[in-house]
Amino acid sequence: MKVTVVGAGAVGASCAEYIAIKDFASEVVLVDIKEGYAEGKAMDLMQTASLNGFDTKITGTTGDYSKTAGSDIAVITSGIPRKPGMTREELIGINAGIVKTVSSNLIEHSPNVILIVVSNPMDTMTYLVHKTTSLPKNRIIGMGGALDSARFKYRLAEAMEAPISDIDGMVIGGHSDKGMVPLTSHATRNSIRVSEFLSDERLEQVAADTKVGGATLTGLLGTSAWYAPGAAVSALVQAIACDQKKMFPCSTYLEGEYGLNDICIGVPVLLGKNGIEKIVDVPLSDAEKAKMQESAEGVTKTNGLLEL
Ligand code: LAC
Repeated sequence: MKVTVVGAGAVGASCAEYIAIKDFASEVVLVDIKEGYAEGKAMDLMQTASLNGFDTKITGTTGDYSKTAGSDIAVITSGIPRKPGMTREELIGINAGIVKTVSSNLIEHSPNVILIVVSNPMDTMTYLVHKTTSLPKNRIIGMGGALDSARFKYRLAEAMEAPISDIDGMVIGGHSDKGMVPLTSHATRNSIRVSEFLSDERLEQVAADTKVGGATLTGLLGTSAWYAPGAAVSALVQAIACDQKKMFPCSTYLEGEYGLNDICIGVPVLLGKNGIEKIVDVPLSDAEKAKMQESAEGVTKTNGLLEL
């Protein structure tokens, strides 16, 4: 199993590190445009192998895509990250050009690759890959919902003073401050609905804190987060590499599912060796349906900024 990670910045390197530590891939190739940077990160990570106990071989290259040939999965993290006060949507101009070039380079050398798009604005970048490449839709996956769901579980656990392993919950919709739809009515602690433990007001606060999860970290760090984004990507890569058929909310191209068409947006999917193997239809309350519709309108508006 060969995995390429394009962008050796904080998210890309963290993703490579988590993949390596879980030790399910034979090879991870890091690619960056900054001279020597991917090679340096790869060497540094390889020097953790004997300490962390993994055999995954990590290499780096400065833009030589021939080194990525035969990748089963490739992750696109390249582009500029958010600065404090910026929305993900503001990154579209620069990142669209980068994502288009990177996806075309990856597919040229790995025609069977499954692409995971992380660059922001992620739903629109996933749509761009869908529109500008010939990959089937099951092999184009946008990563946002897995991260947003992890942040939702963190906030729920904090509110209930519970261990995170007790909590289950999912965030669907667009990966944006306004567009996320935390499925509060479905979230549970050990199969008991969270509404049994928390007031409506507290649950609304949890949802609000979840939606600005990325922005909160950008404010604290001065740039966007990397540990949870890297871990979320590595979980998707593992589900595909190990054919786990695990359910994650991912951005995928919809053709009528959830009443939406011609859009990539976060919905629950099953991930296995073929990428997105199934889009799972979960029943939504009327309020959740309305939020999903509003979220889709926001994503469609951002998609309109693309020069296709
Ligand atoms: C975040 C970026 C990765 O939410 O979109 O942290």
